[in-house]
Amino acid sequence: MIHDEENPFRQLQLGVSCADHEGPTAKGRAPVADQQQSRRSFLKVATMAIGGAIGAIVAIPLVRYLLFPVGRQVVSSADEAVDVMSAAVLEPGAAPVRVQIDADEMRNAWSVSDSVPLGAAWVRKNQNGDVEALSSTCPHLGCAVDFDNNENVFKCPCHRSAFSVDGAKITGPSKRGLDPLPVEVDDGRVKIRFVRYRTDIAEREPV
Ligand code: FES
Repeated sequence: MIHDEENPFRQLQLGVSCADHEGPTAKGRAPVADQQQSRRSFLKVATMAIGGAIGAIVAIPLVRYLLFPVGRQVVSSADEAVDVMSAAVLEPGAAPVRVQIDADEMRNAWSVSDSVPLGAAWVRKNQNGDVEALSSTCPHLGCAVDFDNNENVFKCPCHRSAFSVDGAKITGPSKRGLDPLPVEVDDGRVKIRFVRYRTDIAEREPV
């Protein structure tokens, strides 16, 4: 009896069979696996890169929008003196003149506006020829005061506070006199810086 080990033909068959089965596959398996692994790695990196780029494109404008106006210069001409009239039209000791104070341009963090009304003032030249300005806002609760030419006093129509021509309180619920405003005469022009103060308190506290 001839065993397989002793049968050269059988050994040849087995050898051919194993070589046919394992030879080409064993040789090609490693490079194919490497190629697949490389492809997967490339796709993973490419996906992450594309995702990151899209995220950045979306995030940058969003972050800018959320942070706006951080870092921007914010100015307001409300802090500047506003040219309201010629000083030449004011006569020393004459009745005060009401002037509107408008900012040429108002710029805040989110918008820019032209000719914004800031408030109003009563302007006069005193007996010494000095130009004075009083806010027209009643210090009681903020109504606009009028000037009574007959009585030469300011009167508030809301709760009947009254003030002398220089702004001192005469009567009524107001806790202080009318608020003087910073005024200057520059090249013959009267310029006033409007200041809004807190109402219904004795002290002058800008708001
Ligand atoms: S608001 Fe002027 S008296 Fe009250």
